[in-house]
Amino acid sequence: LKHFLTIDGLSRELLIEILDQAEGFLGVAQQAVKKVPLCRGKVVANLFFETSTRTRTTFELAAKRLSADVLNLNISTSSTAKGETLLDTLRNLEAMHVDMFVVRHAESGTAHFMAAHAAPHVSIVNAGDGRHAHPTQAMLDMLTIRRHKPDFDQLSVAIVGDILHSRVARSQMLALRTLGVPDVRIIAPRTLLPTRVEEAFGVRAYHDLSEGVRDADVVIMLRIQRERMNSALLPSEHEYFQLFGLTEERLSTARPDAIVMHPGPINRGVEMDSQVADGRRSVILEQVTNGIAVRMAVMSMCLGNQHLGSQSQEEATH
Ligand code: CP
Repeated sequence: LKHFLTIDGLSRELLIEILDQAEGFLGVAQQAVKKVPLCRGKVVANLFFETSTRTRTTFELAAKRLSADVLNLNISTSSTAKGETLLDTLRNLEAMHVDMFVVRHAESGTAHFMAAHAAPHVSIVNAGDGRHAHPTQAMLDMLTIRRHKPDFDQLSVAIVGDILHSRVARSQMLALRTLGVPDVRIIAPRTLLPTRVEEAFGVRAYHDLSEGVRDADVVIMLRIQRERMNSALLPSEHEYFQLFGLTEERLSTARPDAIVMHPGPINRGVEMDSQVADGRRSVILEQVTNGIAVRMAVMSMCLGNQHLGSQSQEEATH
């Protein structure tokens, strides 16, 4: 694995390998083990041109727990604000011998663009590009699902909300289908669904929440991506909650052991009720912890430790 840009085109075997490696890093993510030396001497630069709480900090923690050195470029106080181009920023940081760039950008395709122009030794990891892809989010979601529901080929998974603008939904649909989930449902107002999404991703679309989550094993809620909408599309928050907000009552049609997920940040009272967000079926904070483990797996695989088996990982922790 050289770069990690998208789930599209990755094999089931590779996704399973990432999940297996991430399982091996959970002890480090949970701080039972403090650090592993797998990326000692490597330099990772976080370039976040869009806001982030979870992704940026978990990438930073993941890199530090792999013993890499980490640069966090503050874009608003960087020379980007003086008009320096993305390529010049890349070239200058490469001159400081950075080995990996973790990049988030509002423009779809930015991570691919950087990968196409990066020096041969450099890895690019996509931390979210426009409405296109957020592959490490999808993988931490897959790890969270697998830890609660180990058989992907038995599952019904419902993804609810703003599918149209969601890079998370796109990456999740690809990952779920690649891992063999037979029943992937998307539930949204017609205005927030991409055209031909059912054919493109092998999913079923619903427009009624209670019907869509019926007998689901996993319910994934999404935030309305206001920053990617023009005002004509913006639903009223109140109306949206009335129709698509997840409440205990609406969740009652899902399986009794269904888990509830959300990539964050949550808009409480818009896409879900606090009772559900903080309730017994919510695994939202587990997703965050699992994000450290998945990002450790992806970073170590990209930085050259891709063939570590569980034994060598074990040795590396001591
Ligand atoms: N899930 C996610 O990408 O959250 P942040 O925007 O806080 O990184």
